[in-house]
Amino acid sequence: MATVLLLGATSDMAVAMARTMAAKGYDIQLAARNSDRLKPLQGDITVRYGVNCTAHEFDATAFATHHDFYYSLTPKPDIVICVFGYMSDNDAACKNWDEASKMINSNYTGAVSILNIVGEDFAERKSGTIVGISSVAGVRGRQSNYIYGSAKAGFTAYLSGLRNKMYHCGVHVVSVLPGFVDTKMTAGLNLPPLLTANTQQVADTVEKAIRKKQNIVYVKWFWKWIMTIIKNIPENVFKKKKL
Ligand SMILES: NC(=O)c1ccc[n+]([C@@H]2O[C@H](COP(=O)([O-])OP(=O)(O)OC[C@H]3O[C@@H](n4cnc5c(N)ncnc54)[C@H](OP(=O)(O)O)[C@@H]3O)[C@@H](O)[C@H]2O)c1
Repeated sequence: MATVLLLGATSDMAVAMARTMAAKGYDIQLAARNSDRLKPLQGDITVRYGVNCTAHEFDATAFATHHDFYYSLTPKPDIVICVFGYMSDNDAACKNWDEASKMINSNYTGAVSILNIVGEDFAERKSGTIVGISSVAGVRGRQSNYIYGSAKAGFTAYLSGLRNKMYHCGVHVVSVLPGFVDTKMTAGLNLPPLLTANTQQVADTVEKAIRKKQNIVYVKWFWKWIMTIIKNIPENVFKKKKL
């Protein structure tokens, strides 16, 4: 059976994806910082689904380690899902470059660094699927979230270009724009329940997108239309809003 590599496997979304893909019979490679934390999930997946599940040390911002990390994996994955990300207070990040650069590196630079390596390997093998968890926050910059949003915008554009390049090598690339999701990342936020997905809905969307070779997916369908409206608000009106 094919092998799925989850980058950022301690994330709530990644845990749901690991279980969903394991239930379909895929072998699983979990990768995260402080990978000892993955042991309980690794053990549970192995026993519950009877697939091969391994745990690996991976830091998205330790760019120099990415090549050796990827080439240490045996077997090489057939599907790579890039889940890691980081969001903190925008105003605080405007005053503190360490915070701003952490958001940029965790959501954009780290993803480019590892997916460049994965992309080259998949292109050579002429097969594989790459999934990136980006965000609707990247569709249009808002005053409350534009450092995170701009990093995700960069990631969305990267995935678009990668899909275009990889199409000609038989490699498929999926961009996921989840909308609000109930996870650790959004724990302190007052999210509208109707607009908020759970992690199982994200996992099911990702599994279907891989199976059906979809290109750009939203978890709750109406987010596509919400973002179409937001994108089309004239700039003269948009800049006056408190968003
Ligand atoms: N929740 C939402 O509403 C929402 C909406 C749209 C998009 N997203 C995106 O969805 C993805 C998953 O987020 P989530 O909501 O599931 O939140 P989460 O549970 O907080 O997951 C974020 C994960 O990213 C990992 N991470 C951060 N920096 C890392 C680094 N340098 N190296 C390796 N891993 C790192 C964290 O690992 P540690 O455990 O080591 O900190 C954590 O597991 C993120 O890319 C996020 O931006 C979330």
